[in-house]
Amino acid sequence: MSNRTLVLDDILYQYLLEHSVRESSLLRELRERTLKHEIARMQIAPEQGQFMALLVELLAPRKIIEIGTFTGYSALCMALAMPPDGKLICCDLSEEWTAVGRSYWQRAGVSDRIELRIAPALETLDELTQSGSAGSFDLAFIDADKTNYASYYERCLDLLRPGGLLMFDNTLWRGSVADPSNQDADTLALRALNKALHEDERVSISLVPIGDGLTLARKR
Ligand SMILES: C[S@@+](CC[C@H](N)C(=O)[O-])C[C@H]1O[C@@H](n2cnc3c(N)ncnc32)[C@H](O)[C@@H]1O
Repeated sequence: MSNRTLVLDDILYQYLLEHSVRESSLLRELRERTLKHEIARMQIAPEQGQFMALLVELLAPRKIIEIGTFTGYSALCMALAMPPDGKLICCDLSEEWTAVGRSYWQRAGVSDRIELRIAPALETLDELTQSGSAGSFDLAFIDADKTNYASYYERCLDLLRPGGLLMFDNTLWRGSVADPSNQDADTLALRALNKALHEDERVSISLVPIGDGLTLARKR
């Protein structure tokens, strides 16, 4: 016996897109340009970007950290929704991919809100902690290498203020987290994270089945 009501097939998904997504022309241009990229699937879906933007509007965060920026779509969604005097720190390794994002952030008039740090994200997070930023962030979005999610979690939890929100992308990992025969390193890391979050009393959680699974965790 379950309370499940929804099966999201292609027809219903298309309906959802048509009746929910209000993507601006600039966001759409960036997303469609990225879709031509051979690893376009790394980009979040438009309904997820809009959902995250709504959370940003609700929280009105002054400080956000994003781990994994790629061509800048999720960062642009959040930057457009955050207060104009807020700061979004974006962590990535790729100058090439983030250069695409930079040009769109500029065109959207939000580049002054975004600080891009090109370095392994663990180094950036440790620098932020060492420079006295613990407890000062309102929001963190984790969307980089899956095997480091547990380490990103601990560091971001430290950087967040009580009541701050963590968002983990890909926590359903195209269903492989629920397939015991899948034992690849990324799947194992996400499965372990999901289990740890479920049992972790330091946060209130919800695994939202949007995009590839987005887990929200509010620091208590
Ligand atoms: C899934 S993509 C991010 C997608 C992006 N949030 C979006 O919606 O378009 C993951 C990104 O993480 C970056 N990345 C991977 N390992 C990293 C690391 N150790 N430190 C920082 N960035 C990393 C990759 O360069 C890549 O751009």
